[in-house]
Amino acid sequence: MNQSNSIRHKIHCLWKIAGFALVGYTAFSPMTYAADSSPALFNINNELLQPEGYREWVYVGTTVTPHDMNNGKAEVPEFHNVYIDPKSFTHWKKTGQFRDGAMVVKELLSVGAKKALTGNGYFMGEFTGLEAAVKDSKRFPDEPGNWAYFMYGMKYPLPRKATAKPTAECNACHQANAKDDWVFTQYYPVLQAAKPNK
Ligand code: HEC
Repeated sequence: MNQSNSIRHKIHCLWKIAGFALVGYTAFSPMTYAADSSPALFNINNELLQPEGYREWVYVGTTVTPHDMNNGKAEVPEFHNVYIDPKSFTHWKKTGQFRDGAMVVKELLSVGAKKALTGNGYFMGEFTGLEAAVKDSKRFPDEPGNWAYFMYGMKYPLPRKATAKPTAECNACHQANAKDDWVFTQYYPVLQAAKPNK
């Protein structure tokens, strides 16, 4: 083998190794996707990885249940900002339904200031927690509506993953009270406005 052939051979071998490594990584990677093109990423233990980039998804609305209107014991303090992944929003606009693979995130914030130039009120403070809901008929065939619910808690740094909550703890209230397919669209003006054939 002359020198240039030997270099070519070495490069060829390196490509092969890189190729095997890539195939191995893809085949044995602990992460799997949920339904088609869903942003929900699960590990092999069926735990939902903390979503990334959701503040750049479609923002659908905010509710606020401040402690001082709930005897200091609001269940889910205090502001709740809700986002949906963009593909699911597009699907919703077309069909008025949540697609398989839809993911909705609720981020919690404390009440910060109660007074501003515009008057007295509630103004957002710090981020205080994160929750998510995922609709996936293959992964959660036994959950009512195929919706599973996750809580990352309120202690920062938030854990990187969360297990689905028992049906009775989250799903049941959503099933009984949410306006559209387990989602509280009655409080999300952006989803209401985008819904076709209202
Ligand atoms: C007693 C009823 C009730 C229970 C129980 C409940 N929720 Fe909700 N959830 C709501 C309401 C009402 C909203 C509307 C937004 C708001 O006010 O927070 C909501 C909104 C959400 C949203 C935003 C998307 C949507 O479906 O509207 C997520 C995500 C969520 N809840 C997660 C959870 C998780 C996780 C649990 C269990 C730990 C849970 N919820 C238990 C009433 C409930």
